[in-house]
Amino acid sequence: MLPRLKLSTCAKFVTVLVCLLFHLTSTQLIINVKNQGGDVVQENIFANVTDDTVTLEFQRSDGTLVTQVIDFRNEVQVIKALILGEEERGQSQYQVVCFIFHFPKDSFISSDAMSKLRQKNPSAIRLPEQDLARDNYTMDYNVILQHSGVFSPHVADLCAEAKEATYVRHEDLTVWSINQGIPVTTYLKALRKLPKTKQRSVKNEVADSPKNNIESCTGSKKMWLPCNCHLEICIGWYPCSLKYCKGKGQTKNSYVTYRCGIKTCRKCHLFSYYIKEKEQCMWDE
Ligand SMILES: *[C@@H]1O[C@H](CO)[C@@H](O)[C@H](O)[C@H]1NC(C)=O
Ligand SMILES: *[C@@H]1O[C@H](CO)[C@@H](O)[C@H](O)[C@H]1NC(C)=O
Repeated sequence: MLPRLKLSTCAKFVTVLVCLLFHLTSTQLIINVKNQGGDVVQENIFANVTDDTVTLEFQRSDGTLVTQVIDFRNEVQVIKALILGEEERGQSQYQVVCFIFHFPKDSFISSDAMSKLRQKNPSAIRLPEQDLARDNYTMDYNVILQHSGVFSPHVADLCAEAKEATYVRHEDLTVWSINQGIPVTTYLKALRKLPKTKQRSVKNEVADSPKNNIESCTGSKKMWLPCNCHLEICIGWYPCSLKYCKGKGQTKNSYVTYRCGIKTCRKCHLFSYYIKEKEQCMWDE
């Protein structure tokens, strides 16, 4: 049987001091996750209860460094990818891209529950219980970082290296606007609409939508032309919800429910976003 992760409560500890020390030194959880290719990837997850955020970080086997930040207060999640250049193509630099999108409530355990998560066997190799498959995201805007605070106060720092490469979708603006009570026009002031590229064919009637105007980078050989790049980021393991168990209550025939662990998930995100030159998207072939 796989070792289970348990939610520990300080009160259960015999000495409070031990518990406090544990809290101060070990707010970070390191999880060994087996990915679908069979490699083991080490995930770092930490919660900041004051900020009400959770940060999950790992390095893929291709070297890409992925950081996911969930800002519960603002219903925002950010996925940042630091992608290494391909040396054999003479690219020694790395590039950073950031995707900001809506965080659906209850799709990750709270920062408070996260901060209390402990594992009995830290060297265990873990697999998620449920695969949530893949969501597609077609990004519509570039975010002007100086004004990114309207989405979350954490974006400016997190995405500082993705100045021209921080993206957001139009449909999420509508959701935030309703939930946060901020007019869509306020968000638009922090955004730059991604440029339309020239139409592929004048006769092409469906070419009116901007999405159809930009060629996909997939298979494109035109290194210096803009195109729509695809990047898939999979979060191989994360605590997606709490598990509740039933126990006997104090009186006869009564039951109580209590938290008794976590449910774990895997989820992939396929981002499609405008870039100025195919050269920034060499993996999309
Ligand atoms: C949590 O966030 C607060 C406010 O930004 C910061 O002062 C504090 O250092 C953070 N705590 C940790 C453990 O990173
Ligand atoms: C996401 O995009 C991929 C490839 O472009 C496609 O095969 C898949 O059906 C899409 N999924 C959804 C849910 O739209």
